[in-house]
Amino acid sequence: MKENKYDDLNFFVNYSAMPRSVVGLEAAGEWPTFRALLPNLANKSILDLGCGYGWHCRYAMEQKAKQVIGIDLSKKMLEKAKALTEHSGIRYECRAIEDVVYDEATFDVVISSLALHYVQDFQQVCQRVYHCLVPGGVFVFSVEHPIFTAMASQDWFYDEQGHRSHWPVDHYFSEGLRKTQFLQEEVVKYHRTVESYLSNLLDAGFAINRLCEPKPSAQALKDYPDMVHELRRPIFLLLSVSK
Ligand SMILES: C[S@@+](CC[C@H](N)C(=O)[O-])C[C@H]1O[C@@H](n2cnc3c(N)ncnc32)[C@H](O)[C@@H]1O
Repeated sequence: MKENKYDDLNFFVNYSAMPRSVVGLEAAGEWPTFRALLPNLANKSILDLGCGYGWHCRYAMEQKAKQVIGIDLSKKMLEKAKALTEHSGIRYECRAIEDVVYDEATFDVVISSLALHYVQDFQQVCQRVYHCLVPGGVFVFSVEHPIFTAMASQDWFYDEQGHRSHWPVDHYFSEGLRKTQFLQEEVVKYHRTVESYLSNLLDAGFAINRLCEPKPSAQALKDYPDMVHELRRPIFLLLSVSK
């Protein structure tokens, strides 16, 4: 099922108010880790799966990428991406990650930030990304962490005083669709185990370069003291793999 939640007006308005939508990558907690996983992008052809507002596409052009294609299911997200973009080297295409088929060895780098947990068939994504990368090409992506996606509630367990008691993890091995709550709306996401993420990548032929579970920086904890709870469980899983 391809759910195009980001074209739902209420959801889009709420997403537009998030700090990462207003400020950009500097307000995205996982960005320093994501950036550190990227190879040198100069003169590279890049594909961004689920590009949203196109922050990563523009970053790639700032790093002197040769060309960038950003694809996304949501017309509203792409309208915003186009409005924010001045670089002529970026092309935005409205289509689903599930429908992406490019010729062999088209891209040097494929990236995806927080979009692949919306896709049911990760194995197929791995095979197609592997196919369209040049030999030695790199795939870097972030998803919501399986500890975060295991339960549809995606929320803390609160004690009687309303304090965050613990993060519940259950049905971890029951992979598949989760009807979650995000930005006051029901949103469909797909839960996979860490083992599945790695096995699907390895089965497609990739070599694993690095796996990261970013935590808030000391500065972020100072600026946003409530982030201390983000030290209690991972929320993001980042991987860099090579063809
Ligand atoms: C959380 S946003 C992340 C946007 C951007 N990558 C970023 O990090 O700023 C998720 C994006 O994935 C897109 N998306 C979700 N499911 C998709 C699918 N099946 N195919 C293409 N894009 C999808 C949404 O429309 C949305 O723009």
